[in-house]
Amino acid sequence: MVAEDALAQVAAEVRVCTKCDLYLNTKNGVPGAGDPTAEIMFIGEGPGYHEDRQGRPFVGPAGAFLNELLASIGLDRSSVFITNVVKHRPPENRDPLPEEMAACAGYLDRQIAAIDPKVIVTLGRYSMAKFFPGVKISAIHGQAKLVNGRIVVAMYHPAAALHQATLKQTVVDDFKRAIPAALAEAKRLAAEGKLGAKKDGTDDDDQPPQQMSLF
Ligand code: URA
Repeated sequence: MVAEDALAQVAAEVRVCTKCDLYLNTKNGVPGAGDPTAEIMFIGEGPGYHEDRQGRPFVGPAGAFLNELLASIGLDRSSVFITNVVKHRPPENRDPLPEEMAACAGYLDRQIAAIDPKVIVTLGRYSMAKFFPGVKISAIHGQAKLVNGRIVVAMYHPAAALHQATLKQTVVDDFKRAIPAALAEAKRLAAEGKLGAKKDGTDDDDQPPQQMSLF
């Protein structure tokens, strides 16, 4: 199936999903949006109020900041793919529960497989934990690791920067440094045939996150 069709299929399923109780009291499922052939994919936590109203990811204040961050590195939303760990808004924007993330994981995994991005950027703790288990975001923000043939970069959530002024410059600096470097490194690895999901299902999870050579 081509990426666009696979993503449309996931989106259709998300919009009627009842796999966990998060759909209760929401207006819309928020599957994700962007370019099905994107080289870079951003994964946030879960929809908030504005995302629930519009059915699109990162359209509130955190989304406005994400747009600025993207612009600072010459990207815009139409050239990337943006989604979340959970696809329905948690009540009062509470943290997603483990069982909710587990129920939703198949959608995210199918989106990653369809897009096959060279670089994944995790926004916040919950998407980070999928690729960097057992670490603290304060220890690894702005760092990257090769996971299953892709470069994964851990970033603070843009909303955290909006709530804590001291984090804002850190997020701006991490974005400007780590994402262009990750893309360049991904292209270099791809040219050497070292990028791309491994067909044997193994991954590089035993490697600690690291400042990749060019970072
Ligand atoms: N925060 C998120 O994690 N995701 C969104 O889509 C919006 C805000």
